[in-house]
Amino acid sequence: MARLLLTGGAGFIGSHTALVLLQAGHHLVVLDDFRNRNPVALKRVKQLSGKQITLVAGNLNDPACLERLFRGGPYGIGGSFDAVIHFAGLKAVGESVKHPLLYWQVNLEGTRLLLAAMAAAGCFSLVFSSSATLYGMPNQVPIPESAQIQPINPYGHSKAAAEQLLADLAGSSSCWRIARLRYFNPVGAHPSGLIGEDPAGIPNNLFPFVSQVAVGKRPELLIFGDDWPTIDGTGVRDYIHVMDLAEGHAAALEVLLAGAPQLLTLNLGSGEGHSVLQVLRGFEQACGRELPYRIVDRRPGDAAITVADPSLAKALLGWRTKRNLAQICTDGWAWQAANPNGYR
Ligand code: UFG
Repeated sequence: MARLLLTGGAGFIGSHTALVLLQAGHHLVVLDDFRNRNPVALKRVKQLSGKQITLVAGNLNDPACLERLFRGGPYGIGGSFDAVIHFAGLKAVGESVKHPLLYWQVNLEGTRLLLAAMAAAGCFSLVFSSSATLYGMPNQVPIPESAQIQPINPYGHSKAAAEQLLADLAGSSSCWRIARLRYFNPVGAHPSGLIGEDPAGIPNNLFPFVSQVAVGKRPELLIFGDDWPTIDGTGVRDYIHVMDLAEGHAAALEVLLAGAPQLLTLNLGSGEGHSVLQVLRGFEQACGRELPYRIVDRRPGDAAITVADPSLAKALLGWRTKRNLAQICTDGWAWQAANPNGYR
């Protein structure tokens, strides 16, 4: 069983992945600055798994924090990690347009500092949270990993730069084992309803917004355009259940630790697209009532259709998504109904 460091492990994807890794028997140290997150998430992960997690409050841009994490021996928290799963980062597109310096500092410089600390400590295995945002307005759908990298906002640029840094590192020496996982649209929640997505403020993304309409926190969903060249005119995305995504991390880690040093670049998606209206109807089924919505103008920067070609992940990891849209909506609603104010 491996000893793992999870940066940003208290977040939406981090907490679900922590649960899957604990259940697989791994030992976890979680680093989180709790900027947009609540420590209750990890308490519930411990409750669900019956296992302990070592928690470190801090962030990667703080040298003292990295020193504490990687210092070995009786006084260090971490010491020898077998691998790091690096979730920590900022991900709001609009915020990144207003604060590019912050995004480059956290998403690129934070990653660089982490990698330097890993190298110094002799830890060369990393699973990195990347994003389908790298593909920008995709030229082909479904999108293979070989598609052009053409991000269209500072968030995407910072992720693309971090991916490039990882490729440069992998090319510099033969000891690195790196997986760059490009997430499509992570949604849903653990079926217990105990952990789920808890966005700060007004949600930017469709699924948490619909969830908040269903629970009565928002009056209506605004649908950004019904004149896209899609099945019903609304935007199409590849929604992936967060538990499938968590299992994708566990599978990538297993392959990395068992195989030769390598650089893996993988799409994690279902390969299926659903429109905004299909998600809305799925959520209505789950919560048992009609949800109010209004069609408004397109949102700047949106693509019509973004769907993964996940065949490489299937071939290399033996992983594929197992949960469909109905399961996503059922689990998402169980979480939102039981926690109308998230973890607060
Ligand atoms: N949408 C609405 N109303 C809303 C929110 C979204 O109609 O209130 C629509 C969008 O126009 C789009 C679809 O719902 O067609 C999905 O939008 P999201 O904001 O949920 O997701 P995006 O695909 O735009 O982007 C998300 C993340 C990105 C990430 C990307 C990966 O926000 O950071 O998925 O594919 F890169």
